[in-house]
Amino acid sequence: MSFAIHILEFLAIAFVMTLGAMSAVALGLFVIDRTQTGDAIRRNYPVIGRFRHLFTALGEFFRQYFFAMDREEMPFNRAQRDWVARASGGKGNTIAFGSTRNLNIPGTPIFVNAAFPPLDDQFASTEPLVIGPHAREPYVAPSIFNISGMSYGAISRPAVEALSYGAKEAGIWLNTGEGGLSPYHLKSGCDIVYQIGTAKYGVRDGNGGISDDKLRNVAAHPQVKMFELKIAQGAKPGKGGILPGAKINEEISQIRGIPVGKDSYSPNRHPDISNFDELLDMIGHIREVTGKPVGFKTVAGTPEPFEELFALIRRRGLECAPDFITIDGGEGGTGASPMPLMDLVGMPIREGMLMVEDLRDTYGLRDRIRLIASGKLVNPGDVAWAIATGADFVVSGRGFMFALGCIQALKCNKNTCPTGITTHDPKLQKGLVVEDKRCRVANYAKSVISEVEMIAHSVGVAEPRQMRRRHVRIVQPDGTSRLMSDVYPRSEPLY
Ligand SMILES: Cc1cc2nc3c(=O)[nH]c(=O)nc-3n(C[C@H](O)[C@H](O)[C@H](O)COP(=O)(O)O)c2cc1C
Repeated sequence: MSFAIHILEFLAIAFVMTLGAMSAVALGLFVIDRTQTGDAIRRNYPVIGRFRHLFTALGEFFRQYFFAMDREEMPFNRAQRDWVARASGGKGNTIAFGSTRNLNIPGTPIFVNAAFPPLDDQFASTEPLVIGPHAREPYVAPSIFNISGMSYGAISRPAVEALSYGAKEAGIWLNTGEGGLSPYHLKSGCDIVYQIGTAKYGVRDGNGGISDDKLRNVAAHPQVKMFELKIAQGAKPGKGGILPGAKINEEISQIRGIPVGKDSYSPNRHPDISNFDELLDMIGHIREVTGKPVGFKTVAGTPEPFEELFALIRRRGLECAPDFITIDGGEGGTGASPMPLMDLVGMPIREGMLMVEDLRDTYGLRDRIRLIASGKLVNPGDVAWAIATGADFVVSGRGFMFALGCIQALKCNKNTCPTGITTHDPKLQKGLVVEDKRCRVANYAKSVISEVEMIAHSVGVAEPRQMRRRHVRIVQPDGTSRLMSDVYPRSEPLY
């Protein structure tokens, strides 16, 4: 009995002391909040005002895990992310009961099913396609779906390694992004596209121009199949790359030739390319020095620049043309960019791709310039749409980040990515196990390709590149759908 009374006494004292301590802390916070001048809410509502910050931070997680519907999050909704997660897991990717997709939203593509699709033994796999027939070493690209540029620096060492091994296993290319070529890109032996950004990391001479010797060194790697000049990317057209200082360690500083720990800004355009003549000259020069196909990456805004470029190519001769053009949509992602550029500048890929593809064909350049599409094309339906509009290839960045385990924490611009993908903090990188994630990368790529082929068969053709605009209907504002070939008719060819 007396033991129980002692316990009760102890609990009562502990309770009173806890209350006292809490009141003292609350009083301290009250004084701090009332006297500080930076935060109006905390000054007017001391202590309680602090909960606003807490709930705002927690709200992000509550929305994602409990409240957001399958199709409503941005930039990628749960249905899109879950598809990638299932595909990467390599297990069956079927769902039950019925689609959760709202098919009345204007712009939604719907594929036209064939009355009599090809039989199983009439299916063909996607054929490899030659890029750069005039280069000394043209590239016979095996896959329609590949990995878009994400630099070593923006993403981590294990992320690059897992992408590289996964690319090798799936038979797809890996674009280096603008941060140069690291040993981790090369390790697996996969096909590599070397991207030259405006800072020309890895191939820069002493004056910020291009170094032929360094270009030759990069091209000497047999795995490096093509070079891509980055003119613009969808998340920040007109702005150079930003690599926060927190992400620049000793190794990255050496590969890029920049100081450790200091923010690194690339110029907002190539200082030595200020018009299309100079662009074609630079492309011709890199092709001559390296012997490999050369193209560029940009974002569509209006038709005029493309008309000017294609007309110029016609005047100068087809050989001078870029071997490929990557069109990135304004909805593209990045490690770090100012919000107005991310939100508001650059045509979405669903408009830009149609426009550029139409112009390329109008100027008779279909067989000369390959088109590569990117911008939230992460699920098979998106990729099939792009191929049906006339893209020759599709590349994805964030689709492969999801395969690596990205949870869309939106922290790529800090050094705190919880999944180890966009951080150089060794503790966080431990979560990204290359041996596991390389398989997920390969599984994801293979699933996208096989399901795009499945859509192609369903619309009645033997392989994806035989799909045309007439195989897709686009939902209109009144809820009906029209053939994409009627909504976006082709212009009369000029050549
Ligand atoms: C973390 C991250 C880093 C990126 N780094 C580059 C880069 O170095 N060069 C580039 O051209 N694009 C870069 N991008 C853009 C992607 O290559 C791609 O164009 C864009 O995200 C659209 O594709 P997606 O929607 O499939 O991600 C980056 C994107 C992300 C998310």
